[in-house]
Amino acid sequence: MGKQARKIVELDLKEVIKDLNKAYCDEWLAFYAYWYMAQIVEGPGYEDMSEFLMKIAKDELEHAGELADLIIKYGGSPTAHPMEIEKNGNAPYPGIPKNYADYDKIIQIVTDAEAGAIDVYKKIAKKTLGKDDVTYQLVTHILAEEVTHEEMFENLLVK
Ligand SMILES: [Fe+2]
Ligand SMILES: [Fe+2]
Repeated sequence: MGKQARKIVELDLKEVIKDLNKAYCDEWLAFYAYWYMAQIVEGPGYEDMSEFLMKIAKDELEHAGELADLIIKYGGSPTAHPMEIEKNGNAPYPGIPKNYADYDKIIQIVTDAEAGAIDVYKKIAKKTLGKDDVTYQLVTHILAEEVTHEEMFENLLVK
C-alpha cells in the first residue's frame, strides 16, 4: 500500500487489519462447514441441497480470498495456521448436523452463520464509512452476498 493510500485511511490500520482478519477466519469456517455439509447431506432431494451448499461455500471461499488480498495490501498477514482459525474468528465453527438428512437443522446452521456474517460486515461498514473507502467497498460487496445467502436458505423453509 502506497504512502498516499495509507494517508487517506482515517482509522488505525492495525485495527482494520484485525477486523478483516477476524472476518477472514469466519469465512474459512463457513466455507468448511458448508462444503462439508454439501458432501455428507443425504435424504430425498439431497442433490439440490448439496448444490445449494456448494454454491455458497464457493462464495465464502471467494470472500476469504478477497479479505486476504486486502489484509496483505494493508501490510498484514491473514491467519496462517488452521488451528488458529477458530480462535481468531468472531464466532465458533458453525458445526454440522448429527443427522445428515436433517434439512431444517442444515438451514438453521446456515441462516445463523449468515446472520452472524451480516452483523460482522455491517459493523465494519459502519466503522469504515467515509474513513476507509477501500475496506468499506469490500465489506459492503461481501455484505450484499451474505444477504443473498441468508435469503436463499430462509426461502427453503417456506414450503
Ligand atoms: Fe462470506
Ligand atoms: Fe455467506
